[in-house]
Amino acid sequence: MAIRRLAPAEIQPATFAFTEENERWLEKQVAKYPDGRQASAVIPALWQAQKQNGGWLPQKAIEAVAARLGMPLIRVLEVATFYTMFNLEPVGRYFIQLCGTVPCHVKGALDLKQVLLDRVGDPHHVTTDGYFSWIEVECLGACCNAPMVQINDDYFEDLTPDLLIKLLDDLKAGREVKPGPQNGRVSSEPKDEVKTLTDPALYDGSVVGSWRARFKDELSGAPSVATTGEHQAATATGPGDPKAAKPDAGRPIERPVADTPASRSAAGETPVKPADQADAARSDSTGAVYPGPETSTRPQQSDKSYTVTPSKPEEGRVAADAKGTTPVAGTPPSETADRRDGSDTKPVGSSPDVSPGVAPKE
Ligand code: FES
Repeated sequence: MAIRRLAPAEIQPATFAFTEENERWLEKQVAKYPDGRQASAVIPALWQAQKQNGGWLPQKAIEAVAARLGMPLIRVLEVATFYTMFNLEPVGRYFIQLCGTVPCHVKGALDLKQVLLDRVGDPHHVTTDGYFSWIEVECLGACCNAPMVQINDDYFEDLTPDLLIKLLDDLKAGREVKPGPQNGRVSSEPKDEVKTLTDPALYDGSVVGSWRARFKDELSGAPSVATTGEHQAATATGPGDPKAAKPDAGRPIERPVADTPASRSAAGETPVKPADQADAARSDSTGAVYPGPETSTRPQQSDKSYTVTPSKPEEGRVAADAKGTTPVAGTPPSETADRRDGSDTKPVGSSPDVSPGVAPKE
């Protein structure tokens, strides 16, 4: 990014004033904003001043915009020197901005740069005939069609050195030039072997709304009357009776869970917990039916269990609620006769409420 300064005093014009036409245009711009917010029109005002002055902003134009919008001059100078869309020095009749960012660089922007150096000269200088000046800029957003240049308001893309030389010659000779890709392609479509959007039906209007008609037919059970080229192309090239590549493709995967009460039961083990016994009797997890313990014909289980048996049967379990300690639903805690303080949920057989080294309370 080059330092952006106003042009030297010797080339600055002595005065600047908006033309009547531009003054009317500026009034409309200012009217778009609420009272007291006319400063919001500073960018359009500067842009119009630049256009009126042949493509660059002299100091007097910046001052005129500040006065017109009631802004401090420094505020307008900040805007004019910040945005690279404002040229602070004279430019040629055809002002060329060469994109030098990576996509354009790898596609040959350096060769284009050499053409400009040879034909136009150094950047930031206007040719003696006043026709051309050029600068290098960052990405102009046409990377798909790299390399490219912007000349005044138009993009010229897919350039080669020869195409750029021809373009400069045509501009200087006053011949008509066509903005956009210069290699024959349209927009940024593939240059050769275009394989998409080739169906003529896409362009004769017959496709418009066809999906809706097809949807109605399917709902009413009537045979499909879709006859668009799009549909025909799809049915002509698609498989008639599509089959999944794999038997399970697209279906929910049902596999037995590796370690469940049911699978353990099938392996000859009897669950210890009643809930697990019920689970083991279910048939939906492995596809097999497991008899419950009452109907089992298997040999009596040993007292060996696959779960860890607590050394004391009740240890670690929460004691059942003492009768009358559960508040009646809807009774506020503050009004319950027996407020629960947590002491009734202490594990049975747990050690007294003492910490190591602390004497129990009396
Ligand atoms: S890199 Fe050149 S237009 Fe984006």
